[in-house]
Amino acid sequence: MCGIVGYIGEDQAAPFLLNGLEKLEYRGYDSAGVAVYNGTSLQVAKAKGRLKVLSEMINGGRDVPGTVGIGHTRWATHGKPSDINSHPQVSDSGKFAVVHNGIIENYLALKDLMVKKGKVFVSETDTEVVAQLLEYYYKGDILEAVIKVIHKVEGSYALGIICADDPDQVVAVRKDSPLIVGLGKGENFIASDIPAILNKTRDIYRLNDNEIAVLKRDSVLVYNTDKEIVTKEPVHIDWDVSAAEKGGYQHFMAKEIMEQPKAVRDTISPRIQDGKIVLDKITLTAEQIKRFKKIYIVACGSAYHVGMIAKYVFEKFARIPVEVDVASEFRYRQPIMDDKVLVLVISQSGETADTLAALREAKNLGVRTLSIVNVVGSSIANDSDDVIYTWAGPEIAVATTKAYSTQLAVVYLLAIYFADKLGTITAEEYSSYISQLQSLPDKISEILANKEQIQYLASQFFNAKDVFFIGRNLDYAMSLEGSLKLKEISYIHSEAYAAGELKHGTISLVEDGTLVIALATQDALFDKMISNMKEVKARGAVVLGLTTKQNKKIEQVADYALYVPELCEMMLPSLAVVPLQLFAYYVASMKGCDIDKPRNLAKSVTVE
Ligand code: F6R
Repeated sequence: MCGIVGYIGEDQAAPFLLNGLEKLEYRGYDSAGVAVYNGTSLQVAKAKGRLKVLSEMINGGRDVPGTVGIGHTRWATHGKPSDINSHPQVSDSGKFAVVHNGIIENYLALKDLMVKKGKVFVSETDTEVVAQLLEYYYKGDILEAVIKVIHKVEGSYALGIICADDPDQVVAVRKDSPLIVGLGKGENFIASDIPAILNKTRDIYRLNDNEIAVLKRDSVLVYNTDKEIVTKEPVHIDWDVSAAEKGGYQHFMAKEIMEQPKAVRDTISPRIQDGKIVLDKITLTAEQIKRFKKIYIVACGSAYHVGMIAKYVFEKFARIPVEVDVASEFRYRQPIMDDKVLVLVISQSGETADTLAALREAKNLGVRTLSIVNVVGSSIANDSDDVIYTWAGPEIAVATTKAYSTQLAVVYLLAIYFADKLGTITAEEYSSYISQLQSLPDKISEILANKEQIQYLASQFFNAKDVFFIGRNLDYAMSLEGSLKLKEISYIHSEAYAAGELKHGTISLVEDGTLVIALATQDALFDKMISNMKEVKARGAVVLGLTTKQNKKIEQVADYALYVPELCEMMLPSLAVVPLQLFAYYVASMKGCDIDKPRNLAKSVTVE
């Protein structure tokens, strides 16, 4: 997830671009850059680090004169944060400059093609391929070249483009990544999000997929890919600036919950090609995978909860024994490790001190390490033998939601990948798991479309003092996450318990009116869960049951029921977590808590 801005008008472009990028810095902050037409050529300035570094470098924009330009804040995907990998990316001759948000999935094939045509690449980015393709297809008409390019590229993109040979226009196009056009008087704008342009205009076009906007100083025309003009209705924005930064949501957490279908899709789809899982750059060979006799999964907090689910998934699919450890424990318990062990580390930030220390400990012992990380170029990503990135984009709310969901998605990819290499699943199972994985984003959207039902349930329980989450196996692992989400943002005390374990002590805390959230998504354990629900109900509990749509029987016992769509059991946690996140969110919101910054917590825990 990156931030894009663009300007064409009579004023100096660079100061506007810097100001707009500042408003978009929540979208990406590992590097920034601008390209401005200076009357003869495109002048490009870019720098690794926060926007401030770029701004100081170009003297607040004064060193990059010109009235047409594009700018970018980067959240690295392809290639670590660096000056060279920052956007804008330019074509060989410097004629085209491009800013991009999204992922070009077939960039390697296109890069090969362009190299064969003699183009020289300087960055590791997927974006550079777009600049080179534009130059290759440009025969005097940018629109024509853009149409040709978007027929070639696969994946998601929002692009801002300027061309030195035709400098009186900014061209923008999008597919599956956001982009708006701001409509001014004698000036027009593009941006990834509304806050970037609110100080200039409140009238915008929202571009739909495959619409191409051609901005001149006095006009904006929008075309489809057949070069026909699309008639658009301007939308007037009356939000205040801070609401706009959250995309109209009250909190980043709500926005991030709603972004999950896209985040999961972005994480899965580039890794499934022609019905096969292709794991970018991991160097583990099938032979090495076959040698592993054990996997240690090491992580903290919610990432540890992903590890708990991963244990069931790896053991079921790949038949490798898995141990899951909280990183702060793992590092001091002298686990038995040798060259038949894989240490799998999970971290959103890639900087969590205990997780990093555990990883280094494993490396010192010569153990093979693989990490699942969201922040490109972070310490954990750099120090692991292999890394698979989650493409969740920056997560701003302290309580993780979309990073958790994308970590789970990578776990499924990896476990199916291992299972295929180990021959522990059949070809039919392999295809079926892949297609179920591909259905995840739509099924998550289906749950999100019913969020009002969960909001209603939250209104019934936001005054609760204690809440228990119970489940078995995968549902127990889910309970841990549901409970953590609730307590960290709503400050309601809650416990997650293996449902069969409750009666060994903790059930004494259940009294009249205690809320018990019972997860029962696994068919084989459904009846056992019904018994556990009856046990707590007999002690006065109010039971909220969560299961799949076919299990309406739950209503015979539960006071309230929530349903998620059907899916292969191992993948149901990806669906079941969504109502739990929403429940925690609405409860905290009704209690008036500081949801995005809960007390005592930090987004990245870089101390032991
Ligand atoms: C809870 C939460 C934390 C993190 C934990 C690990 O909502 O966000 O429990 O999961 O601090 O952080 P990372 O994944 O950055 O290593």
